[in-house]
Amino acid sequence: MDCKCNGKCAQGSIENKFNLIDHIIESYKDQKGSLIPILHQIQKLLGYLPEDVQAYVAKKLEIPLSEVYGVVTFYTLFTTQQKGKYNINICLGTACYVKGSGKILSEFEKQLKIKVGETTEDGMFTLDACRCLGACGLAPVLVVNDKVHGRLTVDNVASIIEKYREE
Ligand code: FES
Repeated sequence: MDCKCNGKCAQGSIENKFNLIDHIIESYKDQKGSLIPILHQIQKLLGYLPEDVQAYVAKKLEIPLSEVYGVVTFYTLFTTQQKGKYNINICLGTACYVKGSGKILSEFEKQLKIKVGETTEDGMFTLDACRCLGACGLAPVLVVNDKVHGRLTVDNVASIIEKYREE
């Protein structure tokens, strides 16, 4: 069940994140197996699951912190790191790699001055890499948030960065 508040309860302020988290937890009250959907809703709200939030969820659900931590670290869908406004996820699967995605990744690292897994200082971009995005016909492929960019070359890197900086 989705929380219906859409971040609007308790004035929707991030300072009130624990009020919002209370609201999410409350909406799953008495439901078995609710830890994953609760964490999913919280991540949707905050963008990541920092340690203090994990501890808070454990306390509220009266379960060990190790259980929450175990779930957060097991599922790749969860992250404990704050992401940039735009998450650039470059495919390093075989079809993309043989068509140069490794070089494209290096070019992003060079131009953004960050490594994979890091976020630019201005909070605009996070650089990630993955294995096969299921769009091998468009190789080499990357996804910025949920927008797919395909048939890329190293020469496209600057214009992609520019396009999102301007948005
Ligand atoms: S290997 Fe890159 S999309 Fe499949």
